[in-house]
Amino acid sequence: MLTEREPDPLAARIFDVCLTLHAEHTINASTFSAMVTASTLTDPYAVVASAVGTLAGPLHGGANEEVIIMLEEIGSVDNVDAYVDHCVEKKAKIMGFGHRVYKVKDPRATILQDLAEQLFEKFGRDDYYDIAVALEKAVEVRLAHKGIYPNVDFYSGLVYRKMGIPTDLFTPVFAIARVAGWLAHWKEQLGENRIFRPTQIYTGTHNEPYVPIEKRDVNAYSISY
Ligand SMILES: CC(C)(COP(=O)(O)OP(=O)(O)OC[C@H]1O[C@@H](n2cnc3c(N)ncnc32)[C@H](O)[C@@H]1OP(=O)(O)O)[C@@H](O)C(=O)NCCC(=O)NCCS
Repeated sequence: MLTEREPDPLAARIFDVCLTLHAEHTINASTFSAMVTASTLTDPYAVVASAVGTLAGPLHGGANEEVIIMLEEIGSVDNVDAYVDHCVEKKAKIMGFGHRVYKVKDPRATILQDLAEQLFEKFGRDDYYDIAVALEKAVEVRLAHKGIYPNVDFYSGLVYRKMGIPTDLFTPVFAIARVAGWLAHWKEQLGENRIFRPTQIYTGTHNEPYVPIEKRDVNAYSISY
């Protein structure tokens, strides 16, 4: 439906495998959002919308989109070392690497890398692939001691790109793979529901004077993304 052409059988098979690899599991950020939203007894559409919103973030499912932007920015294998050195020095996150649970190469990344290679063999190599492989090596040298290795998002973008899926559809594709799991959690939550209401420990100041809006330092409240 996306390409208005009958899919190539290899591409269709690989797409199926991708959906399985991206299936929902454990209490990751978007599942947690779904559970919190479900606990208010809202409708399942709102539960899925809430989960999609969380999934889209670059630290979660939005990372595969960021990986493509990053590979474009690096531009050539020759620039990889300098790019990684810069990120390490600035303590900047390298997209598609690291995982809260996996402290080794994410097993899904290994399978996706193999799928990417199968696609390249049939449809031609992607220039970004060489940069990606060099990046993986460079990150391993510098960050393996912290357990930072490629995650599921590192090679998935290259696979989708080769299939002709536009970058801004990566998160919707990811959501397709997760929606059944989110709804299973919705159902489970309703079974023995209690609204999520975490407590907090306030560590801020007390007895602050009220400052009229025109007297406030606007720069103190500016947020950069
Ligand atoms: C996935 C992610 C959010 C997990 O976070 P986490 O387990 O809470 O790890 P933290 O953010 O606490 O990082 C722990 C350490 O590893 C470093 N680190 C984690 N991910 C990193 C990355 N992608 N690039 C560089 N350094 C990274 C942090 O700087 C931190 O270093 P420090 O201990 O010297 O301060 C994180 O690895 C990340 O932001 N990755 C990039 C985004 C991404 O690919 N997300 C998709 C996840 S499937």
